[in-house]
Amino acid sequence: MTDENTAPGQPATVENLLNENRLFPPPEDFKAKALYTDESIYAKALADPSAYWVSHAERLDWFEKWNQVLDWRPPFSRWFVGGKINACYNCLDRHINAGLGDRLAILWEGEPGDEQRLTYNDVFKAVNKFANGLKQLGVKKGDRIAIYMPMVPEAAYAMLACARLGAIHTVVFGGFSVDSLRDRINDAQAKVLITADGGWRRGKVVPLKDTADQAVAGCESIEHVVVIKRTENEILMQDGRDVWYDDLVASASESCAPEPMDSEDILFILYTSGTTGKPKGIIHTTGGYMTGVSATTRMVFDLHDEDIFWCTADVGWITGHSYIVYGPMANAATQVMYEGSPDYPERNRFWKIIEKYKVSKFYTAPTAIRAFMKWGVKWLEGCDLSSLKLLGTVGEPINPEAWIWYHKFIGAEKCPIVDTWWQTETGSIMISPLPGIVATKPGSATRPMPAISAKILNEVGEEIQVGGGFLAIDTPWPSMLRGIWGDEERYKSTYWGRWPDTYFPGDGVKRDSDGYLWLLGRVDDVMLVAGHNISTMEVESALVDHEAVAESAVVGVTDEVKGQAIGAFVILREGFDDSDEIRQQLMKHVAEKIGAIARPKTIIFTHDLPKTRSGKIMRRLLRDVAEGRALGDVTTLADPGVLNSLKEKYSDS
Ligand code: WTA
Repeated sequence: MTDENTAPGQPATVENLLNENRLFPPPEDFKAKALYTDESIYAKALADPSAYWVSHAERLDWFEKWNQVLDWRPPFSRWFVGGKINACYNCLDRHINAGLGDRLAILWEGEPGDEQRLTYNDVFKAVNKFANGLKQLGVKKGDRIAIYMPMVPEAAYAMLACARLGAIHTVVFGGFSVDSLRDRINDAQAKVLITADGGWRRGKVVPLKDTADQAVAGCESIEHVVVIKRTENEILMQDGRDVWYDDLVASASESCAPEPMDSEDILFILYTSGTTGKPKGIIHTTGGYMTGVSATTRMVFDLHDEDIFWCTADVGWITGHSYIVYGPMANAATQVMYEGSPDYPERNRFWKIIEKYKVSKFYTAPTAIRAFMKWGVKWLEGCDLSSLKLLGTVGEPINPEAWIWYHKFIGAEKCPIVDTWWQTETGSIMISPLPGIVATKPGSATRPMPAISAKILNEVGEEIQVGGGFLAIDTPWPSMLRGIWGDEERYKSTYWGRWPDTYFPGDGVKRDSDGYLWLLGRVDDVMLVAGHNISTMEVESALVDHEAVAESAVVGVTDEVKGQAIGAFVILREGFDDSDEIRQQLMKHVAEKIGAIARPKTIIFTHDLPKTRSGKIMRRLLRDVAEGRALGDVTTLADPGVLNSLKEKYSDS
C-alpha cells in the first residue's frame, strides 16, 4: 500500500503528488444543494473579519449582546466582550423553543448492539436532571469537573450539564491510565469526577471505575465520584464519596436554569501533549468557542436539517468536543454516536452503522481509513453506503492513496472529501475546503477557512509563498485557546515565542504553485500516533520511571496504519540484561503509565544515544535507525558501536 515515497506524514510524499496535481471539483449535484457556493465569501471575510465573525456569532442566542467584537492584546484575546451566553442553552433550549424538541439529537449505538434514539427533548431532560444532581453535590460556576467516560450519551450529558451550571469540564480520554488521569485531575484541581463502571471495547469491559479509584486515591481535590452504570461489572463504591448517577438524578428536577456566562468565562479545559514536561491544560472560553464550532460544523460539513452526521472521534479528544457535542448540537443536528471499536464483532461495523442510520456526513481519521484499506474492500460487500454525501478526515496528514481509497470505495466517487486541519488549541477547523466551493486535491487540506490568516514562515519569520516552512497564524480567531491552565509563561513561550504576535502551531506546511496547502506533520517532538498527540518526552519519562531503565530516547517512526508508531531506545541500568521479557515489561509499563495508545511498537536496547554537544538527543538519527534505514529491521542493536560512530560523525553538524 505505501512505499517510502508515499508513507503518511512524510514530506517526500508531497513532492510526488505535486507532479500529479489532480483536482476534484465539487460534484454538480452536491454543489446544487450546498449552503456555500459563492467564492466571494473568502474575499469578504478577508476584507472585514470582524463582520464575518459577527455574522456567525449572531446565529447563536445571547442573553446579552457584546459591546466589543474583539479585544486583542497579543497573545491574549477576548471575543464578543461583554456578551452573556450559555453553551448548553445554545445546544438544547433554543432548539426546543424553536419547536425542534422532537427532532432526533443522538442515535446512539453501544458496542454490544444496544441502542437509544434520543430526541432534543430527551437530552434536555437528562441534562437538566444531571445539572441539578451536580448542584446537590455542591458544584458551582467555575468548579472543575473531570469526566472519564466511555462513549455513552451520558458523556455528552455530563459535559452539557457542566456547561449549564458554568462548571468547567475537563474530559480525560477513557483509554488513559491511572497516572494520566490523576495528573490531569490534580492539575485542574477537579472537585467531582464523573465516570462509569466500565465501557465496552472489542467485546471486553474497560474497567473505568477501577482505574478511577486508583487515580482518585491520589487526588485530594475530589469530593465526589459520580458513577454511570454501563457494563454492570462489579465495582467498589466508597461510602460518602461515590454516588450512582441513577440515584443522583432519580429525584432531581427536570428544570435547571442555565447560568448566564460571560463570553470569556471558561467552558472547558482539555489536556494535550506538549513537547516538554506535563500535558498542557488548554483553555477554551464560551462565546468565541461556540461561534467557531457552530460556524465550522455548518460550513465544512454543509449541514442540512435532514443530514445524519457521524463523527467517529471519542469525546475525550477535541474532535469529540467540537464535532460531537458543541458544534453539531448548536446546529440542532441529528447524529450517530457509537461506543465501540470499528472491528467488532466484525470489520464492517462502521459500514453497517452507516447503512442502518443512513449516515450522510461521515468524519473520521486517516489512521482508521488506512486500517479499512488494509482489511480490504470485501468488508464493504453487502453494505449500502448510498446515503453518504460528504466525507471528512482529521488528526494527521492523509496520504493520497488513503484519500483515493476513501473517495472511491466509501464515497462512490460522488462525495467531496474535507481534509480538515486544526488542533486542540485552535478549537475549531482552520484549514479545510468548503465542499461546495473548493476543488480538492488528494492529500491537501486545500486552503484556510474564511477569515483565517494562515501563512508559511521560515525560522526568522519571512513569508514563503510557494514552498515549505512553518505554519503560522497571524490574526486571532474566536475559538483560539485563551491560555494554558495555571501556566501563562508556558502559553506565551510555546505558542507565541517564535515570531512576534503570531501563533505557532508546531506543524510544517507547504504551498504548491496552485496555492494549495499540504500539511507535513509536526516539527517539534510531538508524535502523531493514530492521530493522537503523544510527546516523545512523556514516553521517555514513563520509560525511565521503570527500575531497569537508565536512559531513553523516543521517536515517532512511520507506520503504515497509524501514521506514526513509537520507537524507543533504551539504555538499561547495571545489572539488567536486555531480553524479550524486559522489553515486554517496558512496553506494558508505558501503557500503564500513560495509556495503551502510548505503548512503544519497538524497543531497541543500546549502550549509548547519539547526542549533540549541548546534550540534545539527535532524534533524526534515531528515526533512521528505528525505521531500519541504517541497520535494517532490528530490535536489538547488533553493534552498539554503530550509534557511537554515528555520534562522532554527526555531533559537529
Ligand atoms: C495534526 C486534532 C494534517 C497536526 C483536531 C496538528 C493534521 C495536530 C490534520 C493536532 C490534518 C490534525 N492534516 N495534520 N487534516 N488534523 N493534524 O490537538 O499535526 O489532537 O497539530 O487536534 O494533529 O492534534 P489535536
